[in-house]
Amino acid sequence: MCITILGIETSCDETSVAVVEDGAKIKSNIISSQIEVHQKYGGVVPEIASRKHLELINSVIEQALDEAVIDFSQINAVAVTYGPGLVGALLVGVAAGKAIAFGLDIPLIGINHMEGHVYANMLDHPSPQFPIICLVVSGGHTDLVLIPSHGNYQLLGSTRDDAAGEAFDKVARVLGLGYPGGPQIDGLAALGNDKAIAFPRAYLEEKSLDFSFSGVKTAVINYLNRCKQKGIPVNKPDVAASFRRAVVDVLVDKALQAAELFDTNTIMLAGGVAANKLLRDELSYRSAILGLDLITPPPILCTDNAAMIACAAYFKYLRHDFAPLTLNAVPGLKL
Ligand code: KG4
Ligand code: ZN
Repeated sequence: MCITILGIETSCDETSVAVVEDGAKIKSNIISSQIEVHQKYGGVVPEIASRKHLELINSVIEQALDEAVIDFSQINAVAVTYGPGLVGALLVGVAAGKAIAFGLDIPLIGINHMEGHVYANMLDHPSPQFPIICLVVSGGHTDLVLIPSHGNYQLLGSTRDDAAGEAFDKVARVLGLGYPGGPQIDGLAALGNDKAIAFPRAYLEEKSLDFSFSGVKTAVINYLNRCKQKGIPVNKPDVAASFRRAVVDVLVDKALQAAELFDTNTIMLAGGVAANKLLRDELSYRSAILGLDLITPPPILCTDNAAMIACAAYFKYLRHDFAPLTLNAVPGLKL
């Protein structure tokens, strides 16, 4: 018998519901993005996000069931992201998940959003070789995580200031590109010279696996201000390419350093920034030289989606790791 899990993800600005069988077979993965609504404000407005989730959640659940050609009676468990994220946004998904679990009398599984990002890798690779080093890079997090086995995480390093995705978004904003900035910079960088401007790379103390991206972000802002003061035209593709290269160099160096320090053979990429073309190419190239296995989710599963939540939940289901119906949203939830 296969285990069918309904996954719900509403931690930020995507209302997503998926049906996944046995943690691997995606029967549906509906992602209703609110990007257009938030675009005119240059970022996610929490109040608007929760209201939109509330408007959308029931129809997105129905679409996910319809596309999977199943009804509620065929679901074995419901999984929901309960943190980290925007509290009002999380609460919509958590309430929906609890209602379904209670109504159908099936297990409720609470998933950490970052754990979901990690498990986006397992949809295609259900039996990776442990231990794994995972570089989790999203709009809110930049973490290096050691994963000795399913469901166990040891945080090796994280950002001391801006997350990588946040730096991409902020630099995109000062360059006058749209929101979210990561994909815009990635596209523009392909047209530029990444050696044009020497932006700084923060490696911090020797052997530190922490990150810092506020310096490179400030360096871009200062560079643009200098150009403006001197009346020098800005070559935006060169700025985008040089900035992307500075961020990716540090991410790749530290991920490989972690693999060496902890003697792991498998590296995973996770989170929205894992969709970045240079990061994927560079890590793939350098991992291959070192004989390491690199696992990356397809770009569509790097950004927020509910299939990754249902996949993470499958492994918790196997361990009977269920949540009580008193489950609450935890905006600052740690891995
Ligand atoms: O994981 P995610 O969808 O949401 C969070 O959990 O934060 O990540 C969103 C972040 C945004 O900062 C976005 O700009 C960034 O991922 N992002 C990218 C790319 N695609 C999305 N950053 C760099 N290059 C990309 N191609
Ligand atoms: Zn995310």
